[in-house]
Amino acid sequence: MSDSAALGTGCIFAAAQQMGDVSIFSPASPQAGSIVTLSWLVFAVAAFIFVVVEGVLFYCVFRFRHRGEPTDTEPPQVYGSHPIEIAWTVAPSMIVFFLVLVGARTLWEVNIAPAAPTTESADESGVLDVTVVGRQWWWEYQYKRYDGRELSIITANELHIPASDAETPRSTRLALRSADVCHSFWVPRLGGKMDVIPGRHNTLWLETDKPGLYLGQCAEYCGTQHAHMLIRVVVDSPADFERWLESQAKPAVEDAEVSQGREAFLSESCVNCHRIRGTTAHGNYAPDLTHLMSRKTIAGAAVENNAENLEHWVHDPQDLKPGCLMPAFGLTDKKQQMIVRYLLTLE
Ligand code: CUA
Repeated sequence: MSDSAALGTGCIFAAAQQMGDVSIFSPASPQAGSIVTLSWLVFAVAAFIFVVVEGVLFYCVFRFRHRGEPTDTEPPQVYGSHPIEIAWTVAPSMIVFFLVLVGARTLWEVNIAPAAPTTESADESGVLDVTVVGRQWWWEYQYKRYDGRELSIITANELHIPASDAETPRSTRLALRSADVCHSFWVPRLGGKMDVIPGRHNTLWLETDKPGLYLGQCAEYCGTQHAHMLIRVVVDSPADFERWLESQAKPAVEDAEVSQGREAFLSESCVNCHRIRGTTAHGNYAPDLTHLMSRKTIAGAAVENNAENLEHWVHDPQDLKPGCLMPAFGLTDKKQQMIVRYLLTLE
């Protein structure tokens, strides 16, 4: 196996291990429910056709199999039959027409705003607006507005959204943008897949009443680390979501004990790409690190967010995620440790 093939297999394996339940057959939202219903219906129609065709085939093979002595004469040949021609044109046309209709209905159900208005002038209660930016190879989430309130929170890879409850339907409107190439946003248990295309504005709605962690994956090949462009959607109860918003809205904590690490971070090229609100780091090319430690993973959810992996990442990102856009900066061990210690305080 070549190195790149080994890497590919490794990536798929790593992704599969981290992904847990990503089956469309355990839907957790109305949209995902519509998709699975359509899948079963199409499967049933296809299974029926399969059984009929194979049944006729096996019947003919058995019924007209060769018996007795071989002869040179062909059996009587039949050319053209209007009833048969009509039957095998009309029956498939009707089946295709039926599938088009149910497919169109499902498209409608999946794309329509769930229990929420679609125009900005309408009542915006319970609606969360997030702009999702697909980047090689991670996701940026820009929180714009919730419940009519303006927000300015930016985070990466882990999308928090509020769950609906009996009294209040809550839904999340994702505006999908790409900063570079085509990606595709797909969280199978929450709904359909939507392409993220440079220069094009696509939208996707999420809605569920089941809090929990939902996993997904970039579903459009976008380069070397496509397999490590994972999606984690954390559906919080409305109260938890409010708390999360509140903590994310704060600027980064300033811990005097790690001031050397902070200065080291701010004096290195880190600031050209990364942002830490409350400091002079204003980069907008790489993940916002203001609340880095509130996230469970780093590197496009490729690895767990802990001291060891952070150190590994700062030391040599290419070793952890070959081809990623962050280079190794060749920091001294001391500087590297100070920076990691600082990063670990960014709760
Ligand atoms: Cu982004 Cu594949």
